[in-house]
Amino acid sequence: MPYLANSDELIFFVNGRKVTEKNADPEINLLFYLRKVLRLTGTKYACGGGGCGACTVMVSRYNPKTKKIHHYPATACLLPICSLYGAAVTTVEGVGSIKTRIHPVQERLAKCHGTQCGFCSPGMVMSLYTLLRNHPEPTPEQIMEALAGNLCRCTGYRPIIESGKTFCVESTVCQIKGSGKCCMDQEERSFVNRQEKMCTKLYNEDEFQPLDPTQEPIFPPELIRMAENPNKRRLTFQGEKTTWITPVTLDDLLEQRANYPKAPLIMGNTAVGPRIKFTDEFHPVFLSPLGLPELHFVNPTDDGVTIGAGYSLAQLNDALHFIVSEQPKEKTKTFRALLKHLRTLAGAQIKNMATLGGHVVSRPNYSDLNPILAAGNATINLVSKEGERQIPLNGPFLERSPEANLKTEEIVLSVYIPYCTQWHFVSGFRLAQRQENAFAIVNAGMSVKFEDGTNIVKDLQMFYGSVGPTIFSASQTCKQLIGRQWDDQMLSDACRLVLDEICIPPAARGGMVEYRRTLITSLLFKFYLKVQRGLNEMNPKKFPDIPEKFMSALEDFPIETPQGIQMFQCVDPYQSPQDPVGHPVMHQSAIKHATGEAVFIDDMLPLDQELFLAVVTSTRAHAKIISIDISEALALPGVVDVITAKDVPGDNNHHGEIIYAQNEVICVGQIICTVAADTYAHAKEAAKKVKITYEDIKPMIITIKQALEHNSFLTVEKKIEQGNIEQAFKYVDQIIEGEVHVEGQEHFYMETQTILAVPKGEDKEMVLHLGTQFPTHVQEYVAAALNVPRSRITCHMKRAGGAFGGKVTKPALLGAVSAVAANKTGRPIRFILERGDDMLITAGRHPLLGKYKIGFMNNGVIKAADVEYYTNGGCTPDESELVIEFIVLKSENAYYIPNFRCRGRACKTNLPSNTAFRGFGFPQATVVVEAYITAVASQCNLLPEEVKEINMYKRISKTAHKQMFNPEPLQRCWKECLEKSSFHARRLAAEEFNTNNYWKKRGLAIVPMKFTIGIPMAYYNQAAALVHIYLDGSVLVTHGGCELGQGLNTKMIQVASRELNIPQSYVHLSETSTITVPNAVFTAGSMGTDINGKAVQNACQILMARLQPIIRKNSKGKWEDWIAKAFEESISLSATGYFKGYQTHMDWQKEEGDAYPYFVYGASCSEVEVDCLTGAHKLLRTDIFMDAAFSINPALDIGQVEGAFIQGMGLYTIEELKYSPEGVLYSRGPDDYKIPTVTEIPEGFYVTLVRSRNPIAIYSSKGLGEAGMFLGSSVLFAIYDAVTAARRERGLTTAFTMSSPATPELIRMTCMDQFTDMIPRDDPSTFTPWSIHVS
Ligand SMILES: Cc1cc2nc3c(=O)[nH]c(=O)nc-3n(C[C@H](O)[C@H](O)[C@H](O)COP(=O)(O)OP(=O)(O)OC[C@H]3O[C@@H](n4cnc5c(N)ncnc54)[C@H](O)[C@@H]3O)c2cc1C
Ligand code: FES
Ligand code: FES
Repeated sequence: MPYLANSDELIFFVNGRKVTEKNADPEINLLFYLRKVLRLTGTKYACGGGGCGACTVMVSRYNPKTKKIHHYPATACLLPICSLYGAAVTTVEGVGSIKTRIHPVQERLAKCHGTQCGFCSPGMVMSLYTLLRNHPEPTPEQIMEALAGNLCRCTGYRPIIESGKTFCVESTVCQIKGSGKCCMDQEERSFVNRQEKMCTKLYNEDEFQPLDPTQEPIFPPELIRMAENPNKRRLTFQGEKTTWITPVTLDDLLEQRANYPKAPLIMGNTAVGPRIKFTDEFHPVFLSPLGLPELHFVNPTDDGVTIGAGYSLAQLNDALHFIVSEQPKEKTKTFRALLKHLRTLAGAQIKNMATLGGHVVSRPNYSDLNPILAAGNATINLVSKEGERQIPLNGPFLERSPEANLKTEEIVLSVYIPYCTQWHFVSGFRLAQRQENAFAIVNAGMSVKFEDGTNIVKDLQMFYGSVGPTIFSASQTCKQLIGRQWDDQMLSDACRLVLDEICIPPAARGGMVEYRRTLITSLLFKFYLKVQRGLNEMNPKKFPDIPEKFMSALEDFPIETPQGIQMFQCVDPYQSPQDPVGHPVMHQSAIKHATGEAVFIDDMLPLDQELFLAVVTSTRAHAKIISIDISEALALPGVVDVITAKDVPGDNNHHGEIIYAQNEVICVGQIICTVAADTYAHAKEAAKKVKITYEDIKPMIITIKQALEHNSFLTVEKKIEQGNIEQAFKYVDQIIEGEVHVEGQEHFYMETQTILAVPKGEDKEMVLHLGTQFPTHVQEYVAAALNVPRSRITCHMKRAGGAFGGKVTKPALLGAVSAVAANKTGRPIRFILERGDDMLITAGRHPLLGKYKIGFMNNGVIKAADVEYYTNGGCTPDESELVIEFIVLKSENAYYIPNFRCRGRACKTNLPSNTAFRGFGFPQATVVVEAYITAVASQCNLLPEEVKEINMYKRISKTAHKQMFNPEPLQRCWKECLEKSSFHARRLAAEEFNTNNYWKKRGLAIVPMKFTIGIPMAYYNQAAALVHIYLDGSVLVTHGGCELGQGLNTKMIQVASRELNIPQSYVHLSETSTITVPNAVFTAGSMGTDINGKAVQNACQILMARLQPIIRKNSKGKWEDWIAKAFEESISLSATGYFKGYQTHMDWQKEEGDAYPYFVYGASCSEVEVDCLTGAHKLLRTDIFMDAAFSINPALDIGQVEGAFIQGMGLYTIEELKYSPEGVLYSRGPDDYKIPTVTEIPEGFYVTLVRSRNPIAIYSSKGLGEAGMFLGSSVLFAIYDAVTAARRERGLTTAFTMSSPATPELIRMTCMDQFTDMIPRDDPSTFTPWSIHVS
């Protein structure tokens, strides 16, 4: 460790206030500093690696040369505080606050219903705010770009984009929502023939405050003075273990570089930061030349452009745009290729932080820019104390060969990018799991130079990313093709040669081996076509054009701003204006979400003596624990204790769920022990030092197949049967059999599981604050673990940052883990799971295998279905039994099959235990149904929608489990969906498109849905509420439900307001707690509003009954008068409301019962376009018709439908969990698990809430929390439709196996062609693959 003088003071501004940090530690990032030191908790942690945008802040810097202030978005989790010297940081608190004034961005996000759980909202606000600071009247494209780096798991993005679009000059929000004409035919969509009137206005734009850019805070003058100070000096910050040096000039930097040749240069820190966080990289010294003017310049010359290494990728983007607009097209081919990749590379935050120099030098194997720079013959200008030199940015440099590398004392000064000449073509290609903000699965930069005026190859270069540990230059292939003509024969040789040259071993890291091999040639083919077309444009007579049918292969899918309409019932004009029921009321906490003032668990102030917990988890799937050595961990500074199974005073295994592993581990990720320390950093450091030795136990079961081989089950079989299945099979025209695999899904709630456990110090009481869907369950597990009565345990739940089923059971286990630690140490415990740990430990949706045998007539009528379902339940029971019951009961979906047998069983494997997830098995199981219907259609030469219609329930009927229902709303949703989406006309148009396009295909699909809410056990449908009226007339409502973002509390306020006949502003809802409502059931199964609404209604009605005599006597009086009077008359102003629950039941012996209270129907139709060469797809349009009966709050209900749909679409398309054959989950963060972003949502998104009646539920409403999820499968089946069209054209008529998700890999490999045929294939018995499917 070098000796360095004392630290300098770090000076920067946060929200206009000066921060002077005397002990700036280079290891501390801004997110930690804001949250833990400055106590600005609006900025959220959700991933820690720059991938989610929850921690977005605005950084502003003054440039003394240009005298301009540069504002840009940045992810606070990757910003070392030491890099902020002289910067002004604005956080969500600095934008606006309820205490002072909210900003229009915050107001509109809230009022457009762009927040649900609110955890992503501060990040969204900051991204939009920063955009508006730079562009007060942005274009819709800029809105999309600004939001690309922000993930939201709840809303489905449509309302967030819409809130942004309200700032565009010409408001591109659909005009039908204002007074003007709509982009759609208004007449057609207004349902004029029907009784009910439909509305489309979910918010009132007239209420919005205008944006006044002159009102924004000024840049701190002190920072301008500091920046202009001619006597700047080098800064040094000395931390606990590391030193940060900010050189003052280039010479100083070179001096320091010579002194510390191993120290990384911290520029954007987007490469170094994640490595330090996730791979334990350590550097004792950092050099940070970020602001050096010598690294910031653009220098155009006649031959090309030199760009300073310190330019951020966003600045590079701007500079390239400018050059492209100034220079002739043919000169700027490299620039345009770079711009194409810059558009989709990461989100705006990363693009604004990452630098050109950092990108070039860090040379990640997935780099999107380096292959193009290399293909464009860029050179790197290096400088050291010895002087300057240039090296080519070529193959050897990218492949890190030592002779082509930087010398240790050198730095990159700039990059020179030459212009192209006339006969020189440069292009870039990339394919990722998600179009935007995702590392490439394979990318490429290619260039070809021809002998002037000919198509004879003079020079050829091909660089591929993500095919090996570094970017790969296919130099041998290129060499052999010099002198060849650019024709089909050359292409065919090129493909053969390049496949010989690039070897992706069968077990290669990252998997997708055959797909990646296919992409190598597919991308080459795209280049071939592009160049062919370019040659034709230059000399059409000499060079033939590419076939018309191939044209669309040239273009990537554009990123469009979504459009659409949301329709819902209008409120009865005679309803009291004060009565909010039926109105699109904004989420009760929306403004607080948008200002960052909504308090989540980790936002709560630290408690005296509080300790942090870090986990030690099993690295083996099934093993005996031989020893646990905690000695080294205990010896580390700050460590207070290590907690193991021995410290559990009560039940360590409660109902089969293990709190701390004891003697053996049964999955990777099982908690073995926890470390409690004074800081999380200390706890985590110590957790790494705990040494565990194992002895593997056989068998290790990871997949459903392995479980079936070992007869390993968590549950007995559940079965429903009707008719005579064996008999029916004898008389049908045809029988088909098949299997469908549906992989699992990660909840990816934005707020990871977080718990604050506080021992009260007397009577063994313990208080827990946590985001859960089931406080009673937490109470139960904690009481069992601590061996105390439940009455000693209190759980408080105010809100959760998303849950989706993931916070039903898991918080109980994690609560018990924390409570045991709190009990042992006697101190409060703050337990925040890092994203990676959360994904590893808490598991998700059950992967499913469906096997079917279907008997049907040639006209498409299905006579018999025998279906078996197996789920991968993981290592403990959790909710697997209930999930299987739901699957068996609901999987007939919307179809009547007279002879029907459905059986299901949950497999026990050595994976973390899977749990509840929105839809609870229905979204997986019903895909199997739609798959066999589609297979029947194919066999009968019918369209899938025809077979669906033929077999759909049409009249009052009984389900297979003999529950009566009326499918009239189902029929209505189906018909309206077909009609209003112009399904048949669009199918014809798609067919025509497909005839005219060989490499791009369109597909459409419509799916019907019969869903149910609730639980087949009556006692699980009960609820209670407690309503207090205070003497000032204000009302406090408490109920047993949990606010997860779905707007439950908002609806409860609407209920109380109607029942008590008072304005909503009188009603307050604070939190859910086991003290106020004991024994509450979980908030799940779409029944939160149903049951808690009835309980609140009941409490309010009791109170109103008590007040009636007073009101009667003084009917003209005010609410406050009545309350005062009631108090005088000793009338109790507090009441408990109760709802006994829907009387559901299920008799599994008889295989019948009224298992669910009622049915929710829907239909959705989607149209996609797939790129057969890459496997990418674009969702062109979705129409959803959802039977909402009477919506209590259409904004919230549409929010649920859209959010669930997008989550479902993620499940069925891009969300892919990767496991090693040994059961290790690889996907542990946003880098390797892709949930949808703004780009994935349908370009046209039309949602209609269909009116029906549901007298059983409160105000005749329906629970819509989960139903939209399955409708996402319309995208899956539309993809299959498109793929089928491609296969048909290629002469492949055999049916193919359907599975979910339809990833780019699956799409590409199913669209078989010459490129899939030519790749080398490996014998599966000769290698162990990198990853496996577990369904
Ligand atoms: C969430 C996320 C998403 C991303 N998505 C993509 C993507 O889709 N496609 C893609 O291609 N990339 C992507 N990236 C990677 C990103 O492009 C690189 O991390 C970035 O370009 C590195 O630049 P930086 O300035 O942050 O480098 P830093 O992390 O600051 O430095 C990286 C390395 O370069 C060295 N270095 C920096 N500047 C110089 C210099 N002038 N001279 C000598 N050495 C220098 C440093 O010593 C260090 O070793 C993503 C990154 C993140 C975090
Ligand atoms: S927490 Fe910073 S980007 Fe996710
Ligand atoms: S509202 Fe966006 S993550 Fe919940």
